[in-house]
Amino acid sequence: MKQKLVVLSGAGISAESGLKTFRDSDGLWEGYHVEDVATLAAWQANMRLVQNFYNLRRKNVLEAEPNNAHFLLKQLEEKYEVQIITQNVDNLHERVGSSSILHLHGLITQAKSTYDDSLIYEIKGEEILMGDRCEFGSQLRPNIVWFGEAVPNIELATKLVEEADIMLVIGTSLQVYPAAGLVQYFDTRKQLYVIDPKKVPFSRTQNIHFIEAKATDGMIELMKLL
Ligand code: APR
Repeated sequence: MKQKLVVLSGAGISAESGLKTFRDSDGLWEGYHVEDVATLAAWQANMRLVQNFYNLRRKNVLEAEPNNAHFLLKQLEEKYEVQIITQNVDNLHERVGSSSILHLHGLITQAKSTYDDSLIYEIKGEEILMGDRCEFGSQLRPNIVWFGEAVPNIELATKLVEEADIMLVIGTSLQVYPAAGLVQYFDTRKQLYVIDPKKVPFSRTQNIHFIEAKATDGMIELMKLL
């Protein structure tokens, strides 16, 4: 039986695909502070602005291509049972064919009913327009977990981390909870790898291997170690 490799990915894995991270560039995201567009309060205050913001980001995602780090994670499936837990709302892990992907913060290519959270729709094209409605007549919003909203997949993610034999954390500053707390559930007797060009702070000192590199170079390095 293959060993279980659980991956926690963040914005950094998609940086080399041309998608901006959240906290690297002066805290601005397409000219907005994340908190001004990625909260339920922002949506309630100005739906059109928030909708347009995500329409623009969706366009960027659709124009971007997966990079070698996404491909190498797919390749690791030959040797490991790879479970990806991603904070990213892009679909780049999907587009290389990774078999098992859990999105913690939603998926930008999907719309969600504002009447019933369980009604999820694939978006045809790039935009959700004001006036696009679910089958019960409520406005559609992006299927994104905003700040202040619950993270429905966190329990399943916790279980996957607890059950894993090896863990990789790639391209995340680990500043946003509850996602950042997942690493605490990974057994300290097992090996954890971290790929990030910056030093990400960890309380763990044992069985942790830092690869201080960009995602693509870091993944090549990791493949040699595994
Ligand atoms: N390769 C790997 N890592 C990189 C690269 C790269 N080429 N470029 C930058 N990084 C690293 C940064 O050093 C940083 O540690 O990626 C990390 C990105 O951190 P954040 O911008 O904070 O992104 P993330 O951790 O994914 O954010 C978490 O915050 O705003 C919310 O919901 C949003 O899912 C997001 C969450």
